[in-house]
Amino acid sequence: MPLSFTEILSWLREQDASRLDQLWQAADRLRKRYAGDEVHLRGLVEISNYCSSRCAYCGLRVSNAALTRYRLSEDEIMACVRQAVDFGYGTVVLQAGEDPGLTREWVAGLVRRIKSETPLAVTLSLGERSEQELLDWRAAGADRYLLRFETSNRPLYDRIHPSSPSRVSDRLGLLPRLREMGYEIGSGVMIGIPGQSYEDLARDIQWFGELDLDMIGVGPFLPHPATPLGAPGLADTFDDQVPGSELMTYKVIALARLVCPRANIPSTTALATLNRARGRELGLARGANVVMPNLTPPEYRALYEIYPDKACVRETSDACHTCLGVRIAAIDRRVGQGRGDSPNAIHRQTPTTT
Ligand code: 5AD
Ligand code: FES
Repeated sequence: MPLSFTEILSWLREQDASRLDQLWQAADRLRKRYAGDEVHLRGLVEISNYCSSRCAYCGLRVSNAALTRYRLSEDEIMACVRQAVDFGYGTVVLQAGEDPGLTREWVAGLVRRIKSETPLAVTLSLGERSEQELLDWRAAGADRYLLRFETSNRPLYDRIHPSSPSRVSDRLGLLPRLREMGYEIGSGVMIGIPGQSYEDLARDIQWFGELDLDMIGVGPFLPHPATPLGAPGLADTFDDQVPGSELMTYKVIALARLVCPRANIPSTTALATLNRARGRELGLARGANVVMPNLTPPEYRALYEIYPDKACVRETSDACHTCLGVRIAAIDRRVGQGRGDSPNAIHRQTPTTT
C-alpha cells in the first residue's frame, strides 16, 4: 500500500487513542481481507544456541561465556517435528545462532528427511550463511528463510553487528538473494534498539515494502544484561529514541500490514513477554495472522536466552499448544489448516488472485 515516509512517521509519533484506533482497524481490515481469519501456527524448534557472532543485543553472542551451549541431535529434532505434525501445524521453523557446527551437509540431510517424512513446510532461521549453504538447503527442500535486518540505519547496523575479519555482515543485501534462490523471505526489526530514531524506524517499515517481504516479524528490544546493549539506561542517552514499548510494537505490526497487506505477520514471543496476558491477542487484532508456538524440548528452552525472561520458557510444547488454541478461539479466529504459505508469495506467482 502506498504509505509515505511522512505518514509512517506521524503514525509512529501518534499518541491520540481514538486516532490509533483507526490504525488498528485499518490493519485488522487488511489482515482479514488478504490473510483471512485463519491464524497459522509455526512450530519453532531452537536447534542450537551456539553462535560465532557478536551481535551487541543478543544473549547467544559468542562472548557470553556464562551460557551453557547445546545442539540438538537429529533424533531430538525429528521428535519435535513429529509433534508439529501431531498438533496439526503446517510448518516447522528451525532456528539457531550462527553455528558453524550446523554444517551444510548435516542441515541439508535434516531438511531432506523432514520433507520426505512429513508434509510440513520448512522454514530456516540460521543467520547469515554462505551462498553454497543457502543454495544446498533450498535444493534439499527448505521453503522459507527468516533473517531480520534489525535496522536499516547502516551506521547503527554496523555498531550492533561487528564484522569479523573474514566477513562483513549485510543482511539487507542477502535478502534479495534468498528470494532469487526461491525462498519465501521473512525479515523484520527490533523496536527500541538504543540509538534507533523514529525516522530510522519509519525507513525500516518502508524497507518492508521495498523488499516485498513474504513474512514480517517485529518485536520490542529487550535488554540482556550480558550484552553491550544491555547496559541499564543506555537508550535514555539518545535523542529521538524510539521506545521499545508494547504500544510501539503494535504500531509497527499495524504499519507492516498496511505496507505489505499480503505478508504473513506473527504476533511474536517478545511481544508476549511484554504483556503475557494480552500481547499475543492484541498483536493478532492489530495486523498479525501467525503465531509461533515453541516446540523446543523443555530442558533446553531456558538456554535459548536471546533476551531475559522470555515467555513460554517454563511451559511444555503441549501447554503452549493448548494455550494458543484457547487464545485463538477466544478472539473468534480459527487455527490455520495446511502450510499457510504467504499470500504474498502466492500472489507473486499468480497475480490474478487477491
Ligand atoms: N531483544 C529482543 N529481540 C531480540 N532478538 C535478539 N536479541 C534480542 C533482544 N535482546 C531478536 C532479533 C533476532 C531474533 C531471532 O530475535 O531480532 O533476529
Ligand atoms: Fe506458551 Fe501460552 S503459548 S504458554
